[in-house]
Amino acid sequence: MTRNLSKTQALFREALKYIPKGVNSNFRYWGDEDTLVIERGEGAYLWDADGNRYIDYRLAFGPIILGHGYPAVVEKVAETIRNGTLFAWTTPAEIQLAERICRMTGMDKVRLANSGSEATMHALRIARGYTGRERFIKFEGQYHGMYDYVLFSTASTPLAALGSRRNPINVQSSSGIPDGIRQYVINLPFNDFERLEETVAAHWHELAAIIVEPLLGNAAGILPRPGWLEKIRQLCDEYGIVLIFDEVKTGFRIANGGAQEYFGVRADLATYAKSLGNGFPIAAIAGTDAVMSVVGNGVSHGGTYTGNAVGVAAANATLEILENEPVIESIFAQGRKLMDGIDEILTRAGIPHHMTGLPPILSFILGVDEEPTDFRAYCAGDDDLYEQLAMALIERGVLPDSDGREPWFLCYAHRDAEVAATLEAFEEAVKEVRG
Ligand SMILES: Cc1ncc(COP(=O)(O)O)c(C=O)c1O
Repeated sequence: MTRNLSKTQALFREALKYIPKGVNSNFRYWGDEDTLVIERGEGAYLWDADGNRYIDYRLAFGPIILGHGYPAVVEKVAETIRNGTLFAWTTPAEIQLAERICRMTGMDKVRLANSGSEATMHALRIARGYTGRERFIKFEGQYHGMYDYVLFSTASTPLAALGSRRNPINVQSSSGIPDGIRQYVINLPFNDFERLEETVAAHWHELAAIIVEPLLGNAAGILPRPGWLEKIRQLCDEYGIVLIFDEVKTGFRIANGGAQEYFGVRADLATYAKSLGNGFPIAAIAGTDAVMSVVGNGVSHGGTYTGNAVGVAAANATLEILENEPVIESIFAQGRKLMDGIDEILTRAGIPHHMTGLPPILSFILGVDEEPTDFRAYCAGDDDLYEQLAMALIERGVLPDSDGREPWFLCYAHRDAEVAATLEAFEEAVKEVRG
């Protein structure tokens, strides 16, 4: 079977004339033939320019928690923008949203931003302003955004470049980053208790923050080992380091209170974006009274569009639904069926694999026997086979990312019918790639 992609490909050739690589984010480029041009989305579905329909598990890299074009959110935004979009004054809707975010996450104070990158960038500055220290620890395979400080040893790094586990190399993920920036970041393997303890003991006096994705949301959703997040918390307390949970992918997805609630570990600062606005651009930096007290008292934060009425209306509508409807229960239940079904099909086909992540943000790594616990272990998996399988699924109208590092995301609009159709397609796709 082959989809008709003639209009999609003709449009993409136009895109290539004016937009570098034809996309507005490098991550969206799948090659000149395979990059889709999407015309519309509704619920759990997308339609490309040729009218091919896909059950969407990419969900725009995670933000679509309710479904594409979710009526209550769209209507709230439409109603709001008739009264203007940007005032550079505090609005009642911002106050309502701040109260909601604090209630749901258990944080004391919150400032808004427009993207996950902005939120983590501000969180790092707040941590520096609070501690008076300059360096920070992040973990290999984690992605915190598109700015210089954090573009090291992300999930696009080849394994060989990372160096020895005892002495990891900070690998720059882009040209154009000043070399001096490298000195501010220390990258360590995720889930490596010994390395973390040693590094903190040696460098605590220069460490402003440990920033962690509570699960590896940019490397197949690999989970923290028991005690890992608690260990980070304990070291931060012991040495006066600010613990930042980057909840851009986990926030308002794995629990209404995000990873702090799900794993039962409190952070000093947490960053949110994606699910907060069901696809509208909005982000937040939330934190304890103590750490957030430096904001506006010596530490800069701001932006012309922060708190704009569009993002705030979308977030208020999205969070209201999350608080009042069983969204999290539903994505856990449907995601669980999907994980169990995929596991069973791969097992029956004799393909070694490990299921990773949690039902609302799930994945699997092919060609591994042992449970992968860090990005280095992820790299031992069979990426080529994963991509073949994903492409065979896409041909059948099921759309995960073709890159195994990017998890599958569930939304409230994925119901029994979509999951059953996905598993049917999965069974056929596995047969195809097994030859
Ligand atoms: C964990 C994490 N942090 C930060 C970001 C950056 O967010 P944005 O793309 O909205 O700038 C991402 C984006 O995927 C992310 O996954």
